[in-house]
Amino acid sequence: MITFESVTKRFPDGTVAVDDLSLEAPMGRITVFVGPSGCGKTTTLRMINRMIEPSSGRILIDGDDIAALDAARLRRGIGYVIQNAGLFPHRTVLDNVTTVPRLLGEDRKAARSRAVDLMERVGLDSSLADRYPNQLSGGQQQRVGVARALAADPPIMLMDEPFSAVDPIVREQLQEEFLRLQDELDKTIVFVTHDIDEAVKLGDQVAVFAVGGTLAQLDTPRRLLDNPNDDFVADFVGRDRGFRALGFESSRVPIEAAPTVRLDERAPADAPWVVVLDADDRPLGWVEPHRLDGPVTSPVVHRGSTVGRADGPLRGLLDAALSSPAGLGLVADDEGRFLGTVRPEAVLAAIEGARLRREAAS
Ligand SMILES: Nc1ncnc2c1ncn2[C@@H]1O[C@H](COP(=O)(O)OP(=O)(O)OP(=O)(O)O)[C@@H](O)[C@H]1O
Ligand SMILES: [Mg+2]
Repeated sequence: MITFESVTKRFPDGTVAVDDLSLEAPMGRITVFVGPSGCGKTTTLRMINRMIEPSSGRILIDGDDIAALDAARLRRGIGYVIQNAGLFPHRTVLDNVTTVPRLLGEDRKAARSRAVDLMERVGLDSSLADRYPNQLSGGQQQRVGVARALAADPPIMLMDEPFSAVDPIVREQLQEEFLRLQDELDKTIVFVTHDIDEAVKLGDQVAVFAVGGTLAQLDTPRRLLDNPNDDFVADFVGRDRGFRALGFESSRVPIEAAPTVRLDERAPADAPWVVVLDADDRPLGWVEPHRLDGPVTSPVVHRGSTVGRADGPLRGLLDAALSSPAGLGLVADDEGRFLGTVRPEAVLAAIEGARLRREAAS
């Protein structure tokens, strides 16, 4: 556990970046720091590995005051990932990942074979091992950054906006992979972002910072969205928080059968809307048979409907229903194979059902 006890950081020019901060980041969990620019997130993070020293207060790791530890030794147990990955530009991917283990005395062969293993874990093809960072996409660089931080197998990982320099789709992939990886590794992670969506998606607990370096609220994502402490937090978690909170709510919604068709086949003429499936049974979108005079071709498919998971959060199912031109949400299994459709009113009924169960339980 990482413990902040009344930690204040005042820079020599008088700027108070962190003001009397007390919080705990539990072992094996993801604690997210979120807040507007300049509210002290990075400063707080960098005090954990002593790249910045507090002006007052104490930081403890498993009860030991880190001020009393050797800084170099402390950092060996702490992986650090930053925005744009911060890779060594003149070293190959493989050499970037093996740098720390080599410094720690691991022999070259063992370090390299572990690096290849780690690259695979973070979703990097081993064919990239000999490239230089500027020969990689932003998302690939971030993956190398994560692999490098994991290379020494540190129990603690500090991550400062690691996914913010990539496009939304790559970002989502990185987030999913990060959660899968954490599921296996159980690191103690402190993760900084200014994106509230990322915070509630990744955090076991979320610390909302306010400008001036004060802690506005520390809570689970669910409680943060349901019960913001004050107007600042309410404003920060945003207008869509009711919708966002559905990301934590799962519940059975009745799935109904729907007519389907594959590309190059003729759609059944008796239905107003028909679901188009690819060769793997994944839904591509919808067609209106009465507007077609031949087999279904790719350009005639209404795309853009999102696909909810049958066992996934209600947020995804509601969005699927709302984004569908047919007024029926597409639902798939975990492999993405089409299962059927949900009606918006059925999703709303499930949301109300979940609320009543919560109310009854409290
Ligand atoms: N070395 C420094 N000297 C003086 N002030 C500093 C120094 N480093 C940071 N600050 C100030 O401390 C405050 C907090 O900075 P910090 O980098 O921790 O914010 P942040 O929450 O990480 O912001 P962002 O979201 O923009 O990364 C800011 O007002 C910043 O200008
Ligand atoms: Mg920062």
